[in-house]
Amino acid sequence: MDSGPKALELLKDEHIDIIVTDMRMPMMSGAELLKEVRKLYPHINRIILSGHADQEILIKSTQVAHQYIAKPIDSKKFIHILERAADFIGTLTNRGMISLVSKVESMPSPPENVQQVLNIINDETSSIKDVSEVVSKDMGMTSNLLKIVNSAFFGIPRRIAEAKDAIAFLGLDILKALVLSDHLFAVFDFKKLKGFSCSMLWEHCLQSAFIAKTLIKTHSEDQKEIDNTFIAGMLHDVGKLVLGYTLTEEFEKIIQISQAENRAIYKVEMERLGFTHAEVGTYFIGLWGMSQQLIEAIRFHHSPQSALETGDKVVIAILLADYFEHQFNVIHPDYDQPHIDMGLLDDLGLLDYFKNCQKIAEDYFTQNKEG
Ligand SMILES: [Fe+2]
Ligand SMILES: [Fe+2]
Repeated sequence: MDSGPKALELLKDEHIDIIVTDMRMPMMSGAELLKEVRKLYPHINRIILSGHADQEILIKSTQVAHQYIAKPIDSKKFIHILERAADFIGTLTNRGMISLVSKVESMPSPPENVQQVLNIINDETSSIKDVSEVVSKDMGMTSNLLKIVNSAFFGIPRRIAEAKDAIAFLGLDILKALVLSDHLFAVFDFKKLKGFSCSMLWEHCLQSAFIAKTLIKTHSEDQKEIDNTFIAGMLHDVGKLVLGYTLTEEFEKIIQISQAENRAIYKVEMERLGFTHAEVGTYFIGLWGMSQQLIEAIRFHHSPQSALETGDKVVIAILLADYFEHQFNVIHPDYDQPHIDMGLLDDLGLLDYFKNCQKIAEDYFTQNKEG
């Protein structure tokens, strides 16, 4: 299509899943076009492909697009991005989920400072120095970041006092996950939501992230994979926040039932909604252009069979980290523990792997309790 109005005309008659647009176009800008698409067809995955990297345009684009891709990009990489987007759409097959999409879209978008940081991290040409400059300008973000990096979780012997050292230590991908999850946990003001503790969820996510990282480190030396595992751990339950925000009353009811009957939240969600926070989280995370591996890890964290069958170390690490976190960090003794079928592990040749991971997780918890 050579213009926005023509694209809108086509959308009236054709079923389209993904739209890719430039920013500067005659008649209608890319942002205007996507705004219209978001309103009329919220299910369509919106991608901006543009060579204009000025801050204002970047900020505008994150408000209307799921992903921003900087030009030039080689065709192989571009096809890969489209395949990922197509797979992401595959998660939205449930009718209830589709109706939730428009509600998710109306959630407050990250404030400008968060968007700026996310944009600069997403820009592959950015260095740690570039990112540090942007983060350092934001006192609130810097102090949160230092608080996290200096927390007992990271076990750093000396105190980190500057944003640039914290970022160099964490790496850009983990920074992205922390900025994003910090923002999400701050946005969802759940003081009113009965029976739900945001701080307990944050603890569970952080613990799961560390266990998952410990597990993957014993089986992989690929830093990207290790970082992805940590990020997936941090974000694996983000769907609960989204559900609490978009379907507040229903989610409150789900928590009540789960507590009264000692059943896992995801089971009650499935029964009442027909989908779970895992799918909602997948959709939400997909909006941020996260990797396929990360998306699958979140999508399958309550589906042992699907997770194990991927054979992907990161996906399996998240499944197991969540499982062991519940097993070794018991908050309610009667709580419905997640279940992994030992027979299935055996069939897939993963029983020894599982036992090995269980030992690592147990050691992790023993050490942390002693510390
Ligand atoms: Fe979960
Ligand atoms: Fe979890």
